[in-house]
Order: sequence, then C-alpha cells, then structure tokens
Amino acid sequence: MSMIKVPTPQEINAGNRILVFDTTLRDGEQSPGATMNLDEKLQVARALTRLKVDVIEAGFPIASPGDHDAVKAVAEEVDGPIVCGLARSLEKDIRAAASALKNAKYPRIHVFLATSAIHRQFKLKKAKEEIVKQAVEAVKMALSFCKDVEFSPEDASRTEPEFLCEVVEAVIKAGATTVNIPDTVGYAVPEEYGALIHTLKTKVPNIDEAVISVHCHNDLGLAVANSLTAVKFGARQVECTINGIGERAGNAALEEVVMAMRTRGKYFPYSTNIDTPKICATSRLVSNTTGIHVQRNKAIVGENAFAHESGIHQDGVLKERTTYEIMHPADVGVDQSKLVMGKHSGRNAFGTRLKELGYELDEKRLAEAFEKFKVLCDKKKTIYDADLVALVEDQLVTAGPIWELDLLQVTSGNRSVPTATVILRKGSGETAQTFRDAAIGDGPIDALTNAIDRITGMTGQLLDFQVQSVTEGREAQGEVNVKVDFGGQLVHGRGFSTDIVEASAKAYLNAVCRAIVTQSAKSPEIERPGHIAPAPRGVATP
Ligand code: KIV
Ligand code: ZN
Repeated sequence: MSMIKVPTPQEINAGNRILVFDTTLRDGEQSPGATMNLDEKLQVARALTRLKVDVIEAGFPIASPGDHDAVKAVAEEVDGPIVCGLARSLEKDIRAAASALKNAKYPRIHVFLATSAIHRQFKLKKAKEEIVKQAVEAVKMALSFCKDVEFSPEDASRTEPEFLCEVVEAVIKAGATTVNIPDTVGYAVPEEYGALIHTLKTKVPNIDEAVISVHCHNDLGLAVANSLTAVKFGARQVECTINGIGERAGNAALEEVVMAMRTRGKYFPYSTNIDTPKICATSRLVSNTTGIHVQRNKAIVGENAFAHESGIHQDGVLKERTTYEIMHPADVGVDQSKLVMGKHSGRNAFGTRLKELGYELDEKRLAEAFEKFKVLCDKKKTIYDADLVALVEDQLVTAGPIWELDLLQVTSGNRSVPTATVILRKGSGETAQTFRDAAIGDGPIDALTNAIDRITGMTGQLLDFQVQSVTEGREAQGEVNVKVDFGGQLVHGRGFSTDIVEASAKAYLNAVCRAIVTQSAKSPEIERPGHIAPAPRGVATP
C-alpha cells in the first residue's frame, strides 16, 4: 500500500504539475450504448491506476444501484489515485456518493449545479441567490462526509462571468478544494475560455485556496485546445477521458492533452504523472470494453497515427525518424513488433503478455483464458496481440452471463429461407438449464437474433452491426459489435470467433445479457449533466 501525501491546493497552484482527472467511467460511460458492467469498470479502473492518473471519477452513484456498486467496488480496490463520485447538489445524491466512497483511501465527492441563465431559467427555474445557496449547502454537506470536495458550476462557460465569480468565491469559502469550470456543451473557443480562467484567477479573492479544474466537451472539436489554453491561464487539473469518449461528441482526450504537453514542453512547461507508454493499451482496453471504436486517423492512438504511407515520408523516416514523426511511437506504447505468441508459449509468458496489454486476470480467469488460447492455437497458426485481446475480451464479455451460447446452426443461401436453430444455456454448474428454439429471418443474422429473442423473451432491434477482422489473413478471428435497442434502452454487445456468424450470435447475446442486468439495476430517470433525455419509449433509460 502506497502512502502519498495529498498536496494542498496552494501547493498545487504554486507548481507546474497538472493533475489528470479521468472521467472515462462517468462522462465516458454516458456515450450512447457505452454502458460497462462492474467487471469491465474494474478492469478500466485498474488500467487507469497503472496509467497513473491522479483522479478516477468512477461514476454517478445515485444514477442506479449498479452505478453505486461499481463506484464502491472501484473505491475499495483502487490504491493510488483519488476516487471520485458525482452528485447533484441534492442531499440524496451526496449521501449516495458518500456511501459508495466510504472505503476509498482517497475519496472525493464532486457536486455540481448549473449556473447559466439558460439552465437557471428553463431547467432549474431558480434565481441566482437560490443557486448560490444550494451550491454552498451542497459543498458543506459533502464536506461533512469527506474533506476533498469538488464543485462544478454546470454550463460555466455560458454563465455570466460576474455571477460565475460570485458562485466560485462562495463555494471556495464553503470549503470546496477544487472548482471545475465545465464547458458543458462544447461552446467555448480557446481565447475566450482562457480569458474566463484568467478572470477567475484575477477577480475571485480566495481563488488560490482551490485548484481550478477544466472539463471541456468536444462539440466543436475544441475540447483539447480549450483545456490546454486553460492550463496556460492557471488551471491545474484537466478532466478528460480515454479516446475522448463522453456525452455527445465526447470530452477532451486524455492522450491528446498529455502528449501535447509532453511533446511541446517549451510551449507548455508543465508535467503530468502519466506513464505514457501505457496509453495505447489503455486506449485499446476502453475501446474494446465500450464498443466505441477509435477512428483510424485519431491522434496518438489511431491505427494510422504512426503509419507512413507516402514513399517520400517512408524514405524520410528511414533516413531520420524525426523528419515526419514528432513523437516516438514507444512513448505512447505503440508496439511495432506485432507477432507475439505461439502454441509453445507457456502460461507465465501468456499472463505476462496480457498484463502488458492492460489485462490483469485472477488465477481462475487466467487458467480459462489459457485454455482458450491453446484451442485458438490449433485453429490459427499465428497469434497476434490483437488475438490475445480478442480472446480475453470474449471471456470478459461472457463472464457471469445470464445466457450462454451452446449450439448454433444456421442455414442460408440465395434460394433458401434463412433459418437458425439455437441452444442457450442459462446459469452454470449443476443448476444450468438449456433451452432451444428455431426461427427464420430476412438473413442469417436476422434469423439467429429472432431465435435468441424467442428463447430469452427479449425483443431487440439491431441498430448497428459491424464485423471486423481482429488480425490479417483468411484464418483471422472475427469481431462483431452490435448496438441494440431494447424498447428504448440502447445497449452494445461484442462477440469474437473465427466464425463470424457465431461471433454475431455471441455479440447479440452479450447485448441481451447487458440489457437484462441494466434493467434489473435501474433507478427512475436521473438527469445526467449535459444530457438531453430521449422521449420515453418503453423502458426508461438513465
Ligand atoms: O459536462 C459537465 O458539465 C459535467 C459536469 C458534471 C462536470 O459533466
Ligand atoms: Zn461533462
């Protein structure tokens, strides 16, 4: 167990170290269909700990019992970063956050309340004085549970600057140790946002008693630029997510903020604690876990970020790497040797490689994964890193399933009616039961999803269906990602197999299981920051 001395806001403000506050598990999880289960959240939290982020925002405990339990599990396990839980400025939210965080080594409660005229008038229907009062009371209440309290005036960038200064001064006086200035709807531009931070720095008398944090959304593609500009004007904490996922167009991407500061050190004379060679593994883990793929040309972590296609560029890089590369691929963990293991590799080497790829499995899971690895070695001559990731991901997505695929038989062709016969297993061990059914459809995938629906009693509408090969070659494993609408509840699912029809069935079944788990842990509709709730259709979504 590491004992760190948590620096005071004054110490942080006097230095050039930028705190990295990761909100992948909270704002990131607000991306449509990105819901993660408890196991997946723990995997991501472990990866963020290895990456050495300063704060992990683990969730919004009041949102659902599932969110509460996930924050609690992360708080109990994580040793190193501060673990933070989000709460509206309401007693029940603050109590839920405090209860979820009670076993955290370094807990933080993050309370928020909208301050802009638009939100005051239309959403909260409250006058300025009422907002200040509620914010102050919320901070004081949070402080009665935990000494580290962050306050966010939601929609700060569209709040009248004088009123924002008044709110910030009041919450610092009430004891907030971090004040976050969210650009909730991604409306700000860098010069303007920098000026706002400067205003707070110069006009709020007690500003040095708290750390200024920034939280920028990417609706205009300016989240990273806004965050970096704010740092130049005195912000000392940046809120971001891995791969930039988050509500709507997402949040500032952690990897971009960190690498911009590191690569342009003269322009940004600041440091972070991030262990940058772990960036790519963490990115891959998050994209696999949420089903949100990283675009190929994405800065830092995209597949093409270090690929040189044109002859002139290739020639230049071979002569002198820095002609066309401003960062070293190894600095963000891009592994250029992709070939990893074969059928003679032992269990230790297998476990070590998985750890390097960002997966830490307990003994039982490792043994199961190793068994699957041996089976895969018989099907596939060459095993790449991506195969290992697919194998573990397949295990994680099916871990603790409600339904598991036992048998799948599909017939299709240009002159036959696509038909699927499916046998599913429910439960495990001696109490496991199997169920079978068959269905026809417009195509093989339609037929198999219909058969699964008939057995499970769920009715899903397939909104998105993507097949990709995990590695190259005809024997490659297929990865299928689906987005399914279960009566208004959007869920993603993933499946892997060397047979893409089987991978499709696994992906759909994975979505069915996620939907069942989420429905059983659901709370009434909770308004999430920056989120416009869709019109109710069947089951309410959080
Ligand atoms: O975007 C936002 O305003 C938020 C706050 C809760 C920080 O996510
Ligand atoms: Zn946000």
